[in-house]
Amino acid sequence: MWEEPSGRIIVTTQHEGRHVDINLKGKVAVVTGGRQGIGHGITQAFLEAGASVVTCARDGAGLEAEVATWRATHGDRVAGITADVGKAEDIERLMAEARTRFGGVDVLVNNAATSESGTLASLTDAQWHKEFDVKLLAMIRTARAAVPLMLARGGGSIVNINAIFARQPDMTFYASSVVRAGCLSFTKLLAKEYAAQGIRANAIGLGLVETPAWQAWHDPAQGSYADFLTSTAAYYRVPMGRIGQVREVANVALFLASDAASYVTGTQLDVDGGMAAYL
Ligand SMILES: NC(=O)c1ccc[n+]([C@@H]2O[C@H](COP(=O)([O-])OP(=O)(O)OC[C@H]3O[C@@H](n4cnc5c(N)ncnc54)[C@H](OP(=O)(O)O)[C@@H]3O)[C@@H](O)[C@H]2O)c1
Repeated sequence: MWEEPSGRIIVTTQHEGRHVDINLKGKVAVVTGGRQGIGHGITQAFLEAGASVVTCARDGAGLEAEVATWRATHGDRVAGITADVGKAEDIERLMAEARTRFGGVDVLVNNAATSESGTLASLTDAQWHKEFDVKLLAMIRTARAAVPLMLARGGGSIVNINAIFARQPDMTFYASSVVRAGCLSFTKLLAKEYAAQGIRANAIGLGLVETPAWQAWHDPAQGSYADFLTSTAAYYRVPMGRIGQVREVANVALFLASDAASYVTGTQLDVDGGMAAYL
């Protein structure tokens, strides 16, 4: 398996002369949270793989700058709208954009989210509601809007960006662990409910992935950014000894979204450098 300069992933088993081309040619994808981080990497990978992509973020001006850069390479196959996935009306607008601009939806990637820190005593009801709204309820609302559009096109693929903490709760990701367990359960229900109608649903269980969110947690007084990443990987006992990169998540999202994963549904594929310790 290798990645061409274009970002297209080619998988070959030379022994058998088999050749699997992972692409999204002619597909329409909705990817939430494309302004930066993992959502940005997935949007880019999907555009390079031939999809048309509608993405969103709360910072509309920041997103538009990214969209302008993508347009220079990919033309009109990309659109970005200002939307907060924690709000029902914004999700309606996001799906309407995919329908009116590109004619429907084949792929949905639920990526956008923020996390609340704290434990039992410190997390407030407002923080719990926010966790629930931007993670689980956002997945439910986007799926509810996307499924009829996918059925109209004969099927589709839903990829929910999740965390290994769904199955292995961690005190340092307290609220997130609880909500991510619900996200995994919902993903499995979606897969069961719509498998016979050609819609697959899978989650990606993330460990630790370097994104701009991490730069905000780095205190330069404690050492370099590189040292911070290495020591964080050591603290969480990541067997590969490093934090993951956005493109390593985008590659897996591309595989799950594509027809190459045609018999994969209802599962969580961990992208975590071996961090999850469950069977
Ligand atoms: N990075 C990790 O180590 C890690 C680990 C486990 C799980 N995850 C999950 O992976 C996903 C992406 O994380 P990331 O590290 O790439 O985060 P990030 O660098 O903070 O990027 C988040 C992206 O989503 C957008 N966004 C955030 N909240 C939103 C909302 N309510 N509505 C619409 N857009 C929103 C942001 O743009 P705006 O700010 O402009 O809205 C940005 O484009 C999240 O679901 C996160 O929980 C990440």
